[in-house]
Amino acid sequence: MGAYLDAHQHSLTDPDAFWLAAAETIDWVKPPVSALDASNPPFYRWFADAMMNTCFNALDRHADSGRTALIYDSPVTGTQASFTYRELRDEVAVFAGALAGLGVGKGDRVIVYMPMVPRAVVAMLACARLGAVHSVVFGGFAPKELASRIEDAKPKVIVAASCGIEPARVVAYKPIIDEALTLTEHRPDHVVITQRPQSPAEMGPRDVDWDAIVATASPHDCVPVAATDPLYILYTSGTTGRPKGVVRDNGGHAVALAWSLQAVYDIGPGDVFWTASDVGWVVGHSYIVYAPLLVGATTVLYEGKPVGTPDAGAFWRVIAEHGVKALFTAPTAFRAIKRVDPDAKLLKQYDLSRFRTLFLAGERLDPETYHWATGKLGVPVIDHWWQTETGWPICANLRGLEPMPIKPGSPTVPVPGYDVQVLDTAGNQLPAGSEGAIAIKLPLPPGTLPTLWGDDSRYVSSYLSAYDGYYLTGDGGYIDSDGYVYVMGRTDDVINVAGHRLSTGAMEAVLAAHPAVAECAVIGVHDALKGQLPRGFVVLKAGVEVHEAALRDELIAAVRRDIGPVAAFRDVSIVPGLPKTRSGKILRKTMRGIADGRNEPVPSTIEDPAVLDALRPILRPILGP
Ligand code: COA
Ligand code: AMP
Repeated sequence: MGAYLDAHQHSLTDPDAFWLAAAETIDWVKPPVSALDASNPPFYRWFADAMMNTCFNALDRHADSGRTALIYDSPVTGTQASFTYRELRDEVAVFAGALAGLGVGKGDRVIVYMPMVPRAVVAMLACARLGAVHSVVFGGFAPKELASRIEDAKPKVIVAASCGIEPARVVAYKPIIDEALTLTEHRPDHVVITQRPQSPAEMGPRDVDWDAIVATASPHDCVPVAATDPLYILYTSGTTGRPKGVVRDNGGHAVALAWSLQAVYDIGPGDVFWTASDVGWVVGHSYIVYAPLLVGATTVLYEGKPVGTPDAGAFWRVIAEHGVKALFTAPTAFRAIKRVDPDAKLLKQYDLSRFRTLFLAGERLDPETYHWATGKLGVPVIDHWWQTETGWPICANLRGLEPMPIKPGSPTVPVPGYDVQVLDTAGNQLPAGSEGAIAIKLPLPPGTLPTLWGDDSRYVSSYLSAYDGYYLTGDGGYIDSDGYVYVMGRTDDVINVAGHRLSTGAMEAVLAAHPAVAECAVIGVHDALKGQLPRGFVVLKAGVEVHEAALRDELIAAVRRDIGPVAAFRDVSIVPGLPKTRSGKILRKTMRGIADGRNEPVPSTIEDPAVLDALRPILRPILGP
């Protein structure tokens, strides 16, 4: 592990030198003299003396290369398109001009609520060009979730498409925005709508048409910003119902992403890189949009699913047709393909000779999926671990720096920049093989969150207060004697459903709001396709008479209405009681363990073991008590 160990060691002992060298790949308006600003711990900043523009680095500096920046492949609409760097730059510059015409300037927030269409990328980059701060909201969220993001980010403008296209239905976005805006106190000045023929939106007084505003707009130049100025806010699920606004800066982000694309993913200028995710998630921000464009690679924007659009060979078709060198997706996508085409028969129809590596992240990579993908594709299958907060991998097998032996079940080793440690509850570092909380010693490297939007104290209380001098990842696990990290799952109430991060706390808040419900718990249970699925348990108020099936339907509908279809909440049981500690805390971890078939120890602090015993057959309906 020579090159890797050297780089990792160097990044921790001399972060300034390490990251200043990495910063040379970025074009600066004012180059950094120093990298780390540690003058105000625990708030660390990177390249605080530098100025740049992210859009310039992603587009303008490649405009004369003649290379393709983006390939749009949309089986759900039967469309394909491609954009050279120059073409994409020109579209972005004009849309930036249009946004400026609506009053958007440096520091203003813009919410982007769009499906996987090129204009979503154009909108993000146009904000970056102006020094405005985008906040992309995933289309599968309900109006209330959109509303909470609007209220927190206070956007000047919302940019949206009239609809998203799911295989079984067209999702009209405009009514979702209109409903969200009935729930907020903050109102944007304008909603820019790009009309799609599958479901054009009816326009209201504050709505403006994308085509109309660009028709009269002039291209806008890149606005220099401080490296520490925010590029975007991305809301993610925490343990409560209130999403956290993860802030990303400009300079550290550009440096880290460009570095990671080469060192982790082995992708450089001209390579075709495909991330099958959604621009609404961090994976989409970092590896559909920013990283590939920052290095001058070609990114594939895929509006479709792994199966059903039209079949389980869709991924192989895209790889073959566009000459994809590396694909990054979530394990659930491969489980979906495997379920429909277990022998990967459809693979034989396609030429995958240019395909080198499959990267998987977003949830635990189960060994069965790992072995299936490796066997069928015959390329290295690389598990790597990170989160919205970090923006780029914490642990990975660094294919561009020094490929390492793969150990199934481990995302390999800490990436340079990250001092990953496993701690016990008192904050002591645990020896190899012992399981505990995975924490990262501060400072976090460039590109990771400097804070939460408008809420420094929540940033500290959520991440930095558990262990002095450490960032708490929220994941538990261990490190083996070779330094390989094993991530065993969240230690809080965050769950991962088909690679989508959701809060069980938010679902509990919806259930608890029902007038018949006295108390409730939602836990994530193992699911063979989606990795995890939420299961709800409610206790009725004394004396309430309900039709149980009707109540279950109402609760399921309420979660879909308030959080969105993406929660995939379909299972709720009415139970006589919930197991608690003597101090009244619901034993969710114990319930989770039993539901997943583990021999879960019952805590000695349990108030009434009989309540848990009564729940056991419901928690494990197939396996029995
Ligand atoms: N806009 C509106 N609705 C959306 C949406 C969007 N952008 N994305 C998903 N939804 C809806 C779906 O239509 C579905 O609704 P339904 O309950 O009416 O069927 C629901 O949200 C759940 O969607 P999804 O999680 O996609 O589940 P699925 O059962 O339709 O498909 C997979 C399962 C595995 C095929 C799918 O999850 C997938 O492709 N995953 C790939 C991994 C991925 O992209 N992860 C993101 C992080 S890397
Ligand atoms: P998100 O912020 O949506 O990227 O979700 C981050 C969470 O997903 C992490 O905290 C982990 O719980 C989980 N996760 C992501 N990648 C992996 C991985 N490779 N192995 C295990 N869990 C993962």
